[in-house]
Amino acid sequence: MQNPVQHVSALKDKNWWRQAAVYQIYPRSFADSNADGIGDLKGITSRIDYLKSLNIDAVWLSPFYPSPLVDGGYDVSDYRNVDPKLGTLEDFDEMLAALHNVGIRIFVDIVPNHCSHLHQWFQDALATPPNSPERNRFIFRDGRGEDGNQPPTDWVSHFAPSAWTHESAFGGVHNQWFLHYFAPEQPDWNWDNPEVADDFLKTLKFWADRGVDGFRIDVAHGLKKDLSEPFRMRNTLEHEIDRPADGNGILADRNEVFDVYKQWRKLFNQYDPPKVAVAEANVLPERIPLYASKETLGQCFDFRFIFTPFNARAYKENVTEAIELAKLNGSSCTWCLSNHDQIRHATKFGLDKSVDRRLWMLSDGTSAQLDKEAGTQRALAATLFILALPGSTYLYQGEELGLHEVTDIPESMIQDPQYLKNLKFDKGRDGCRVPLPWNSSADYFGFSSGASHLPQPAWFKNYAVDMQFGKPESSLSTYQVALRIRKNLMCEESMTWHETGNPEVLHFSRPNGWNCVINFEGDDYLIPEGEILLSSTPLVNRRLRAGSTVWIRQ
Ligand code: GLC
Ligand code: CA
Repeated sequence: MQNPVQHVSALKDKNWWRQAAVYQIYPRSFADSNADGIGDLKGITSRIDYLKSLNIDAVWLSPFYPSPLVDGGYDVSDYRNVDPKLGTLEDFDEMLAALHNVGIRIFVDIVPNHCSHLHQWFQDALATPPNSPERNRFIFRDGRGEDGNQPPTDWVSHFAPSAWTHESAFGGVHNQWFLHYFAPEQPDWNWDNPEVADDFLKTLKFWADRGVDGFRIDVAHGLKKDLSEPFRMRNTLEHEIDRPADGNGILADRNEVFDVYKQWRKLFNQYDPPKVAVAEANVLPERIPLYASKETLGQCFDFRFIFTPFNARAYKENVTEAIELAKLNGSSCTWCLSNHDQIRHATKFGLDKSVDRRLWMLSDGTSAQLDKEAGTQRALAATLFILALPGSTYLYQGEELGLHEVTDIPESMIQDPQYLKNLKFDKGRDGCRVPLPWNSSADYFGFSSGASHLPQPAWFKNYAVDMQFGKPESSLSTYQVALRIRKNLMCEESMTWHETGNPEVLHFSRPNGWNCVINFEGDDYLIPEGEILLSSTPLVNRRLRAGSTVWIRQ
């Protein structure tokens, strides 16, 4: 056991992020300490032993700031505080100290593209006339047509048909429209205004000084827009030119955004070790290195595994391409299979290939088309595969339990604007945000002693932490052991592919003799010689079943 002093010195390593295993906590759904059905910071602190047992290097907390929760907290009304529903700044300090004390670092989520309509500065903007300094912190414009009753452009938002909302929707009386890349309750900041840039530096410094180790930057490709007039209309562009490779799109991924991150980097580098950052940038793969450079954020999510079926050829291509990209700017890879915006990967991998996931979810996901066991098994195999790769891995709470998507949340309880505001085009993301099951026999499976904010299905019982803890073949134990081995075997950031003679089987090794073999489909595969460290399903005579991964030491 490491003592706290050793942890503190380990926390000084400036390259800790390069190959970290980072566990994403969605605070409202992790653990509730006061029976109101909403997970909170004290709940996280109460589960430190569990987090420690996972052998992770860091946690990333989705937003816990004051918010009306139109978009699960990604609509922030005060960037330098804790939502009273989730606790206080003292609770935050206590949680941070408890995490650091067991050697776990912490990332917080920064949401710079937009705030909540309830943010004081947006309220001030609504209350003042066009061209006022207050209004100029956001993007207000006159409408088109007689009386200005048409939005200024045909730009679309992610969560609503138009990217413009008339200010009267929130009580403004000056007949202007404001821009929002997401829901109307998430007005976009005007990043051409230095006051906005200064305020974000203040926010970053606030959390950095409190001791957080890193930042996850939400919608990092947003921020800068092409607001030159006459506006470019969307209907004159090809859809894919929304975020073109030349960095001259209308609403996102514009080259000027890197000026912002260069400024942030200067601030981060004033700390020892420097603060780290990972960009959430939904951009063309070739643009990822721009966000992940040493002069900008340092790391950028590469979501390709989230969109890749469980398939040998695709997995090999993914790895090769992502490693090439990471090398371009001295960053490290960011593998991930799940997060709070995606259908849980156990469910994706358990669905028949012919199923249209969007329609399946809208029809409440009947279990007939889902092979839950196969999904959980493949999910574990995929996880062991990515955990052995060079680079960092981002895990999402509940995946260690093998949890599946909850597909049958009653319509009246759905919270996600992706469903509610988007003409119900898809079911949204609540199904991966259902509170964790801790205890199979407790009310609300030990998440809370009051009704949880999203309903937990009865089948969560079988996935509860207490059903798996200490059981060697459980998903949870496999994660715990894998992450422990990974920590001990961490080595230089490189890997070599080995010929397997079977197109369904991939084999690679790390420079220190750590080998990983995955069998996607078909016949059992006789694994190479070496000490078996861990396997996602039991081996029989050194034969690896389909949908399984093994780690070997040679
Ligand atoms: C990011 C978040 C997502 C949120 C959106 C708007 O994509 O991950 O949850 O809805 O930004 O803030
Ligand atoms: Ca609570």
